Amino acid sequence: MIRAAITAVAGSLPDYILTNAELEKLVDTTDEWITTRTGIRERHILKDPTKASSDIAVAAVLELCKKRGITPEEIDLLICGTVTPDMVFPSTSNIICAKIGAKNAWGFDLGAACSGFIYGLATGSQFIMTGKYKKVVVVGVDTMSRILDYSDRTTCVIFGDGGGAVLLEPTTEEAGVMDFVLKSDGNGVKHLNMTGGGSLNPASHETVDKKMHYVYQEGQAVFKHAVYAMADVTAQIMENNKLTANDVNWLVPHQANKRIIEATATRMGIGDDKVMMNIERYGNTTAGTIPLLLWDYEKQLKKGDNLIISAFGGGFTWGSLWVKWAYNAN
Ligand code: UT7
Repeated sequence: MIRAAITAVAGSLPDYILTNAELEKLVDTTDEWITTRTGIRERHILKDPTKASSDIAVAAVLELCKKRGITPEEIDLLICGTVTPDMVFPSTSNIICAKIGAKNAWGFDLGAACSGFIYGLATGSQFIMTGKYKKVVVVGVDTMSRILDYSDRTTCVIFGDGGGAVLLEPTTEEAGVMDFVLKSDGNGVKHLNMTGGGSLNPASHETVDKKMHYVYQEGQAVFKHAVYAMADVTAQIMENNKLTANDVNWLVPHQANKRIIEATATRMGIGDDKVMMNIERYGNTTAGTIPLLLWDYEKQLKKGDNLIISAFGGGFTWGSLWVKWAYNAN
């Protein structure tokens, strides 16, 4: 049986760091509120107005190729999870491929908000498992600062910019993407969205005046759904595969809120030492959080480790994957 193994991981963050102290000067908030309610202390922001999501992704994909010793020409397919594409069309995936010279690749963007990377990982793995492709890159990247209202304290303190990428390659070993459970519920649209700029509300003076080109979130409603849905789907993937808390080496949870992550870990019966967390330094980078976690923790991962990767986000979209880690980083 052919499985899709993650054979390299890379990440990328813009240089500028926006601290809670700086946000205190912009909106009516406090470092204390932000850290206790979310766990976030700082986030990276892409300041250069000539750069966009593709530029963050390019740095990650080039690092990925270098680490694995491959050229961009060897990439067959590049899937880019993002809700902040460079432009409405063409796809950011297309733009990334052109910028890095991946001239034999095709690709597409995948819009599933905070679940963009996990949806992409599941999708990309299928192209490997069928034997069709040998090298699939899955990117998760977002430049949330470009769609945030920095006078709205309920959203601007939460999100940050950044992203990462993984390379998927075939393996016949017991490793790689072992299983996944993915879900969606379009009724969640009212609680978390950006309604301006699409075919329903094309850009106009009115959409700008009504701040429709910014993220809108009903925090508590999203929180309630996230806390149950992420824990449920994580429990489900463990049950489906008869995995106990002892079998799990790492929970790799989307970084939206420390309290949602803790609830998921509690439901799994695992301790803090098995939970990847970097929300403190990056905030919520939407599709970027999970590849950034894998990048940060890569050195601690061992071949054969069981990872449970879980996310919940706008849509609503959510899901969980069981991944067996395929290599020891050196
Ligand atoms: O990644 C995609 C999916 N998104 C999520 O999973 C996010 C889920 N939601 C959350 O993480 C939390 O709901 C938030 C962090 C967004 C908000 O935390 P909360 O504990 O749910 O706060 P809240 O919205 O219930 O607001 C509590 C109070 C309100 O004041 P009153 O009405 O009690 O006087 C807010 O106005 O906190 C106020 N507040 C703030 N105060 C200081 C809201 N934002 C801020 C702020 N600083 N930045």
